[in-house]
Amino acid sequence: MILKYVKIILVLQATSTQGGKYCNIISADEKKCHLRESLVIIDHSANQIAVDKKSNTLYFSFDAGQGEFNPALIGIDSKKLKLLKGVKDAFAIATDDKTGDVYFGGSNGIYKYSHLTSKLMRLDIKQLDVWWLVIRNHIYYIQFPDLKAYVYKCKMIKLLEQLYNSVMNQFVFDAEKNIYFINGTGLYRVGRDDTKVVLLRSTPKFLGMTTNIYGTVYVCSDSGIYYIRKDQKLAKYVSIQGVLALTFDKDNHLIYSDSRELVRLLPMEKRIKKNESRKSLTGEVRNVTVCEVFTMLVSPKPKAIVEEEHQCSNSLNTL
Ligand SMILES: *[C@@H]1O[C@H](CO)[C@@H](O)[C@H](O)[C@H]1NC(C)=O
Repeated sequence: MILKYVKIILVLQATSTQGGKYCNIISADEKKCHLRESLVIIDHSANQIAVDKKSNTLYFSFDAGQGEFNPALIGIDSKKLKLLKGVKDAFAIATDDKTGDVYFGGSNGIYKYSHLTSKLMRLDIKQLDVWWLVIRNHIYYIQFPDLKAYVYKCKMIKLLEQLYNSVMNQFVFDAEKNIYFINGTGLYRVGRDDTKVVLLRSTPKFLGMTTNIYGTVYVCSDSGIYYIRKDQKLAKYVSIQGVLALTFDKDNHLIYSDSRELVRLLPMEKRIKKNESRKSLTGEVRNVTVCEVFTMLVSPKPKAIVEEEHQCSNSLNTL
């Protein structure tokens, strides 16, 4: 009796993977099908992930065990995974879309990494614990534990004026440089030259946010991923539970992390147009993308860069 039951389940599973179930996730508005591509299987990723759009490299971090987050990167196209040495605690991660530089923030302040030269530098700000990073001509960050937004500009640190009264977990700028932020109460907006903080939504509970390559704001919650329309209303993008962090790759494909893995959503029609066989759209992609090998990243002068960079570098000054 029991054996029979098990057999039936196995048969059902086999049909669902072989029978062309390509619509893993259907977005609520456009009814698009996506292929769920697992990029990295990792036990826990921190709250911020980012893609350098120039090299299409995804930066993320993972809990190394001592309450610190180690940064790592994966070439989205090559699927090569590397550990980045020299950064002490990369809880927050942001990329500068203009230069391709990557910034890491955490309990040891802010680091800047150039993918091109493999050079790593640390910003000389003492006693800085960074919760969240945004690079938009300047370095913006949310400081821990006060959870207020600051900007580092011309070697000066200032509270972000528009948000001086607000406590937040994350914030982003949209294409017009309006500010959106989330905290335990909800999702808020502050217009570009405004100081009025407007509550857009108090439910669901918002856990993460990002912008796509056009500057549209996306938020994730326990009930799925949403984006903010032009009329400031929220629209559901996909119903995926457990999403903790979001970003977009250079082709505007959504990448998210949950407590177990980093996943990219590929729109189905795009993949089919590329003359890819239907077979490669099923289970096989998942297998290819599971990375087991960590390679050390060789940086020209790893020690000197981290320990001796007490001055702001020229490139940091110009930010
Ligand atoms: C979130 O920010 C709003 C606007 O500044 C504020 O009124 C509210 O108390 C904040 N909520 C939390 C939990 O900090």
